Amino acid sequence: MKIGLNEVKEIIKNIGKVIEENKEFLTELDANIGDADHGINMSKGFKAVTKKLNETNTESISEILKMTGMILVSNVGGASGPLYGTAFMRASMAIDKEYMDIYDFINILKAALEGIKFRGKSKVGEKTMIDTIEPALNALIKSKDDDLSDKEALENMKDEALKGVEYTKTIIATKGRAAYLGERSIGHQDPGATSSYLMINEIYKYIVNA
Ligand SMILES: Nc1ncnc2c1ncn2[C@@H]1O[C@H](COP(=O)(O)OP(=O)(O)O)[C@@H](O)[C@H]1O
Ligand SMILES: [Mg+2]
Repeated sequence: MKIGLNEVKEIIKNIGKVIEENKEFLTELDANIGDADHGINMSKGFKAVTKKLNETNTESISEILKMTGMILVSNVGGASGPLYGTAFMRASMAIDKEYMDIYDFINILKAALEGIKFRGKSKVGEKTMIDTIEPALNALIKSKDDDLSDKEALENMKDEALKGVEYTKTIIATKGRAAYLGERSIGHQDPGATSSYLMINEIYKYIVNA
């Protein structure tokens, strides 16, 4: 795979579209275990990102990721804004090339995950976006270690991300607003884990069809 500046821009815009399509769904999920604003927060953030991407000339992958992160932090209320914002900003620091291959993408995703864990003081098994992103990243790394093709690796990444979302239904939330519910959070899928899946699936779809 070879992904350049324009492809990254398109992927982020596609993420904006899929967030918009799922705005109500994400908000409904957050209504079950939070404060019913996750879809609204994400939609507001990615609308601002898309607007900026359409208006600004960016010169590198790193610059786009940084801009995205900064806009998310300043436009998204709630926990998810600073968390996703930090993820994109950390990702921007992990790439200084004009084009990225699968290994660069692994580094970017790794940096993003570390950013979220640092910012959220969270780890896997707490019913958050981490339950989607960490297994997805691990599947990607393992697939390349096993010499699978980029396409197969990305497919495994996306499949594990979805399993992560399903897994959040089975566990108790210990981070974020959903933690107030304790055991009553069981049975509900985490909104942030769901938005992370939508993003990962969009990246998968774009790269595999490119
Ligand atoms: N400490 C944390 N670490 C990682 N993810 C978190 C943390 N706290 C919350 N989240 C994620 O944020 C999502 C909620 O986002 P959102 O509704 O936009 O913000 P808020 O909870 O402030 O209303 C949760 O579903 C969860 O995935
Ligand atoms: Mg919320």
